[in-house]
Amino acid sequence: MKNKPILVISTGAGISAESGITTFRDAGGLWENYPVMQVASAQGFAQNPELVHNFYNKRRKELLKAEPNGAHKALAELEKDFDVYVITQNVDDLHERAGSKNVLHLHGELMKIRSVSNPDYIETLDTDHLETTPATRGRNGDPMRPHIVFFQEPVPNIEKAVEIVMSADIFVVIGTSLAVYPAAGLIEYTRPGIPVFYIDPNPASTAGHPDVTVIRKKATEGMRDLTEILHAYVEKHKK
Ligand code: APR
Repeated sequence: MKNKPILVISTGAGISAESGITTFRDAGGLWENYPVMQVASAQGFAQNPELVHNFYNKRRKELLKAEPNGAHKALAELEKDFDVYVITQNVDDLHERAGSKNVLHLHGELMKIRSVSNPDYIETLDTDHLETTPATRGRNGDPMRPHIVFFQEPVPNIEKAVEIVMSADIFVVIGTSLAVYPAAGLIEYTRPGIPVFYIDPNPASTAGHPDVTVIRKKATEGMRDLTEILHAYVEKHKK
């Protein structure tokens, strides 16, 4: 079987909005209701770990009520015709639950906790035990923390993400305000001339990238348009 084209998708909170998960910077977003530096930064965690544990406990409960939406599912479907790599800023597990096989989380994973002293020791929470506190211990006895990349912390998976983007035959950005680096800079690493798409109802400026095709729609609707475009791409490249 001829190698499938490599399709790399970079997603942000917008792809999970239609699953009922609040985004960060839209009106009524998370950062309007929570002081980001207190609940999602390294300094905040050092100063008041209980507040941070509670913030992530709340988000885990919200996640339990959410289901993958049509956009997550459409991405998983595309694996039939493409080698699909999802690079997500999201900490939810909706891509995995929709069936996507290659998902790289840049900002961590809500359903995981890790040792405070050993970042390689990670445990997955089960849905009956979602709450953590500063007293939470791993099976190895270590104090545990959310497996989240806080602001002021490095993004360990960014090098791998850049490598994946550099291999893309097609690059797609879905539902991100492109406000947070290094994730927002991934578009810089696409090979010149490959097709680039950006699905977002209220897209950030792509002034630096005039060749981006902006689909100014919500993720589920935009993915219907994109799926059609990509099927035409496959037909054209079959010949
Ligand atoms: N479909 C597609 N996109 C949507 C939808 C939708 N239904 N609803 C909103 N959006 C878009 C918004 O227009 C916006 O561009 O999703 C984007 C959400 O932007 P943010 O809230 O800034 O989320 P994101 O870009 O993922 O934030 C990046 O910031 O706080 C950190 O770690 C956090 O990973 C997060 C990072």
